[in-house]
Amino acid sequence: MSAGEERFVIVGGKPLRGEVRVCGAKNSVLKLMAASLLTPEECVIHNVPHITDVEIMAEVLRHLGAEVGWEDDTIRVRAGEFAGREAPYHLVRRMRASIVVLGPLVARFGEAKVAIPGGCNIGSRKIDMHLRGLAEMGAEISTEHGYVYARASRLRGRHIVLDFPSVGATENLMMAALGAEGTTVIENAAREPEIQDLAAFLVSMGAEIGGAGTPVLEVEGGAELRGTEHTVIGDRIEAGTFAVAAAVTGGDLTITGVRPEHLALPLEKMRAAGVEVQEGEDDLRVRGGGDYRAVDVATLPFPGFPTDMQPQIMVLLSLACGTSVVTENVFESRFMFVDELNRMGCDITIEGHHAIVRGGRKLSGTEVCATDLRAGAALVLAGLAAEGETQVLDIHHIDRGYQRLEEKLSKLGAEIRRVTGD
Ligand code: UD1
Repeated sequence: MSAGEERFVIVGGKPLRGEVRVCGAKNSVLKLMAASLLTPEECVIHNVPHITDVEIMAEVLRHLGAEVGWEDDTIRVRAGEFAGREAPYHLVRRMRASIVVLGPLVARFGEAKVAIPGGCNIGSRKIDMHLRGLAEMGAEISTEHGYVYARASRLRGRHIVLDFPSVGATENLMMAALGAEGTTVIENAAREPEIQDLAAFLVSMGAEIGGAGTPVLEVEGGAELRGTEHTVIGDRIEAGTFAVAAAVTGGDLTITGVRPEHLALPLEKMRAAGVEVQEGEDDLRVRGGGDYRAVDVATLPFPGFPTDMQPQIMVLLSLACGTSVVTENVFESRFMFVDELNRMGCDITIEGHHAIVRGGRKLSGTEVCATDLRAGAALVLAGLAAEGETQVLDIHHIDRGYQRLEEKLSKLGAEIRRVTGD
């Protein structure tokens, strides 16, 4: 381990109790920041989490020439008449979601150059649907030297059918369509709450968008977009992570700042496993303890079970009586962290895109490595439930999407510290 590298040291077995407020949704705020490129006026975004992915998106926007100010949980973006059209590899490599500047740049300036994101630790992540949709709208797309070049003197509204309800493709095409002549219909669109938040943001800028939250989006092009002010929705995945934390420690947590309906299926699965869950309008209470039962889970686009909660639920199922089958349908290899969980006492076998989780396990602490953001969260959860000390390495993955996770957990009674170096 290098001297400056940080890790979490966790002593497990402490039930978490109290109230925790989740931050704004990472997967929404990044897109709202990119959407701010659509207007020369200032966009003000509240409830912004302090996480590395937001820092990287701010760098991408600054690299393009936009002014970005960040104070407390408010970000201001002003993308005046700037010259940059390029999202370079050194930034896209650090965060794949940078690809979402493609749609707004083409809509506003008729050109963009964005580094092609590589694969990541959850599988190959293609952008073919983003590019095909743009091409259907009339953009000339070429890929050379690791970059996508998109040029369009004129975009035209089209009827686009996505092969799969891709979140990123839906967002990019929805924003590109705002710069097109006429109406664009996107069929088989993603329905995630973050898509609905982006649509609400765009509508508040003056866009006309119908069908957000349904599989068919209708976007009117050509409206002049103005600055706006918006509060990001709560992060359903952060909330779900705390819900599992309450369950696996036998604790009692009230989780605020999130709409439980955004987490309907994960909460349903937790109930089926024997966890007590009460839903309010903007909060939920989760009480753990007692024996849990095995439950099968299959990830799917919203309103299906979120793939971003798959690693966390695997920890709960490892404690339940019986064998559960977890099927991953969204990403091709999102099980890499399983070996790390098994080192802590889980008994999980992978067969293709199914994980066979044999429950009734007693977890024990050891050194483990976070391979990506949500896998890292799952290892922290396992550490909270385990007997003895767990060290989670490579926590920069966790900092991408959780604001000071260890501080929030400590306030709830967990024994967890961030340690730098040896
Ligand atoms: C977003 C989320 C991520 C979440 C995922 C699925 C952000 C920043 N990230 O990622 O946390 O796990 O949605 O809910 O919002 N695909 C293609 N071709 C394409 C586009 C996607 O084959 O053109 C495939 C991908 O390889 C992947 C699947 O479709 O297997 C889902 O990807 P997508 O919904 O686009 O996810 P992201 O937008 O990358």
